[in-house]
Amino acid sequence: FVPPVASGGGGAQLCGDLDGNPVTLESWVKGHKDNDRELVQGLKGEPYYLISTPDNIKDFALLSVCTHLGCVVPWSKAANKFCCPCHGSQYDENGKVVRGPAPLSLALAHTTTVKGNLALSPWTEQDFRTNVDPWWK
Ligand code: FES
Repeated sequence: FVPPVASGGGGAQLCGDLDGNPVTLESWVKGHKDNDRELVQGLKGEPYYLISTPDNIKDFALLSVCTHLGCVVPWSKAANKFCCPCHGSQYDENGKVVRGPAPLSLALAHTTTVKGNLALSPWTEQDFRTNVDPWWK
């Protein structure tokens, strides 16, 4: 059991590393290249992918839990997709489902910083990949 990291303000919750410690944006950028995706402890302690840009991270994070039966979905850099090892579902680089049996795209969260530390907040508006209301609300 890893205790969740402390919550930040404004509905944002700090991201935690494998040990649950906060992660600064500065250290993240130093340790990653453009288009790298790596898991952090996110909302409710669940594993979310942050996506690197050349000098920042994208403004959304992806819950890594497959919408079929809940396996954690690895990122395949070679395929530029998330490929679920359990039953073969695939998601594009933005987490939109492109092959079943998964019925839905990966859940989104907003990325932000709280005093320099990476944080996530709930995504409650339309899913920009499908233009429908989020199923995870
Ligand atoms: Fe991912 Fe079944 S749990 S395809």
